[in-house]
Amino acid sequence: IKIAVINGPNLNLLGEREKGFYGCFTYDELTTDILNFAKNNNIEVSVFQSNIEGEIINEIHRLRKWADGIVINAAGYTHTSVAIRDALIAFGKPVVEVHISNVYKRENFRHKSYISDIAEGVIAGLGKYSYIYAIDFLNNLLKK
Ligand code: DQA
Repeated sequence: IKIAVINGPNLNLLGEREKGFYGCFTYDELTTDILNFAKNNNIEVSVFQSNIEGEIINEIHRLRKWADGIVINAAGYTHTSVAIRDALIAFGKPVVEVHISNVYKRENFRHKSYISDIAEGVIAGLGKYSYIYAIDFLNNLLKK
């Protein structure tokens, strides 16, 4: 099973910004935890981050060939990007939307997502475990 993890803008600053919402772990620590979980569970995983909307879209297009499923934290683009939504529809395989923070505890503009209604499911507020549980879920779904 091949699962791709995509991270959107500002997530490279994990551990430095808004620790109350996003915790103290860094982007590298998050990546290491994801890679370790994947290795222990025999899942092939790729991890990608970009601050640029078009690069995220290009990566989703590339993944049409490689990945069986996508875990995406589109960060701020979650609430704005029709184009990322359209790319995920073109991907055509299962997608899980994740957020580190509980977006429903936060400003109203974070309650709207362009991804939720085309995703298998949404996980928000579980910190780095949002990613781990999403990968575990997709792995079980795709194994069937
Ligand atoms: C986020 C929540 C978004 O609203 C925010 O813009 C982010 C990160 C999260 O992981 O909690 O950058 O996606």
